[in-house]
Amino acid sequence: MRRQFIAGNWKMNLDRASAVALAKGLVKEAKNVDGVDMAVCPPSVYIDAVGKAIAGSKIGLGAQNMYHEPKGAFTGEISAGMLLDLGCKYVILGHSERRHVMGETDGEINQKVHVALEAGMTPIVCVGELLVERETGKTGEVIRHQFDGSLVGLSAEQMAKTVIAYEPVWAIGTGRVATPQQAEEVHLDLRKIIEDCYNKETARAVRIQYGGSVKPDNAADLLTQPNIDGALVGGASLKVDLFMGIIAGV
Ligand code: 13P
Repeated sequence: MRRQFIAGNWKMNLDRASAVALAKGLVKEAKNVDGVDMAVCPPSVYIDAVGKAIAGSKIGLGAQNMYHEPKGAFTGEISAGMLLDLGCKYVILGHSERRHVMGETDGEINQKVHVALEAGMTPIVCVGELLVERETGKTGEVIRHQFDGSLVGLSAEQMAKTVIAYEPVWAIGTGRVATPQQAEEVHLDLRKIIEDCYNKETARAVRIQYGGSVKPDNAADLLTQPNIDGALVGGASLKVDLFMGIIAGV
């Protein structure tokens, strides 16, 4: 069966001291958690310090992005090898902020997904529609297009290892969470797409997280949906009690 996976995307928040303090606070609480995978994805400059703070704990380390080339003249970029070197197991790819603020394309995301998998990392690949797309009935089409573009060329084995995060853009940082039914509908669609492109077994294996204004008070309703296998948490991952409150909803 799929294990629930709750990951914190710290985005461009915190400073070194508060990032380490948050990590230490989570380590303490995580001792009592069983049967759930947990991870934090700090800003890249704090990955090393946070990695040290969570070493030996139940919390996995992730990055928020990476570049697809292994090395060279790519000023400002970070490779998969560098992230592995710091102990990263996960990397978020194609987050909506990267798609819509930085203009990342499905093709670029797909290159990164392949490199991450080849490096032995688990990519958390984000998909999600804009408000106008939902309101004009285009959600299914947008999700299918992002799935096909970002995940093309993966073997069934690679697909099974990949985590997908459904993050409706209108629910990110807005406090406007998708209803459990709205989220479940898209998660089920995604699973059908995977079955269509691969097979039943692969579709059953892939973990699909929901992201967008997840808080302790709405977590349980979302996480108990049959096709929701965890959460990718932004704002509420910056506070120990809120993040642990979400994990308690599993
Ligand atoms: P919020 O939880 O702050 O809405 O952010 C969600 C998100 O973008 C996680 O990647």
